[in-house]
Amino acid sequence: MNIAIVGPGAIGSLWASYLTEAGHQVNLWSRQPAAKLTIQRDQYAQQSLLNNNTQALQQSDVILVTLKAPSVLTVLSAIAKHIDQDSIIVLMHNGMGTAEGVNALLPNNPLLLATTTHGAYRPSMTQVLHTGYGQTLLGAANSQGELCQFLVDVFNHALSDVTWHSNINQALWTKLAINCAINPLTAIHQVTNGELVQPHYQQQLQNIVNEVSLVMNAEGFEIDVNHLLQTVNNVIHATSNNYSSMEQDIAHQRRSEIDFITGYLLESASRHNIDAPYNQALYQAVKKIEQSW
Ligand SMILES: NC(=O)c1ccc[n+]([C@@H]2O[C@H](COP(=O)([O-])OP(=O)(O)OC[C@H]3O[C@@H](n4cnc5c(N)ncnc54)[C@H](OP(=O)(O)O)[C@@H]3O)[C@@H](O)[C@H]2O)c1
Repeated sequence: MNIAIVGPGAIGSLWASYLTEAGHQVNLWSRQPAAKLTIQRDQYAQQSLLNNNTQALQQSDVILVTLKAPSVLTVLSAIAKHIDQDSIIVLMHNGMGTAEGVNALLPNNPLLLATTTHGAYRPSMTQVLHTGYGQTLLGAANSQGELCQFLVDVFNHALSDVTWHSNINQALWTKLAINCAINPLTAIHQVTNGELVQPHYQQQLQNIVNEVSLVMNAEGFEIDVNHLLQTVNNVIHATSNNYSSMEQDIAHQRRSEIDFITGYLLESASRHNIDAPYNQALYQAVKKIEQSW
């Protein structure tokens, strides 16, 4: 297939490399002006891919968008005129809230949402390291997207394990809940995920998760608060040495994805008239840090 990767950072370069290896014709859309970019994954051979080629983008069967959430709508608006209405758009990022805007911008395109637990790190512009194997979930965000389940086989063949989720929003909300718990706390206090086992953080996690589960229940997802807290703690243990993406964004003075994580939760809480003071305080604390730069 012809596959475009829009935003070939760490996770996008990882997929670009695996999809190329699987035999697909991959092109990139990046901020780099070069007509071709090189990607080397781990110790494997370098791959040279077309970059910012409007014809290749237009002919893409699949457009995998691996931008961070705050950039998605800006970048897709700028390139919408080069996107064929049959191209399948796949959004793969942390947080929620971009699908509505993309559906409005490209109403005829099949739209899929993806979430992945693979780990990728880009030590330089041309290198990507596959730092952890994980799973990828894929699901439809509009009726045209429902017809694209076959993409699971395409993606699975390139980088397993990929599964189809008939209610991708449920999976994304669970991921959002985990992100709401771990990301702001680790970002504000600049600590590893593992530090959150300390008793003073555990109390805060309980408060955050209580509010998140109220909102999720109001959104129609049956969620048990104790089970959710257990899930959060399982992730904390499994990733104890890791710094969350929000911790890293704040450490490097980059705009974080807080608006699409805690911000998205707060919008939903407000729609359902639910008070969420703990999450509100975390949201404001992260915003205050960002505004201080
Ligand atoms: N990395 C992981 O292990 C991992 C795992 C799971 C989920 N995720 C999620 O995946 C998403 C992407 O993460 P990432 O780690 O891959 O981030 P990243 O390395 O920063 O990748 C984002 C890419 O988007 C590019 N970009 C920004 N503005 C652009 C524009 N106007 N036009 C074209 N490209 C543009 C950036 O370009 P520059 O290179 O020029 O800055 C960068 O290459 C995030 O939501 C993250 O939370 C990441």
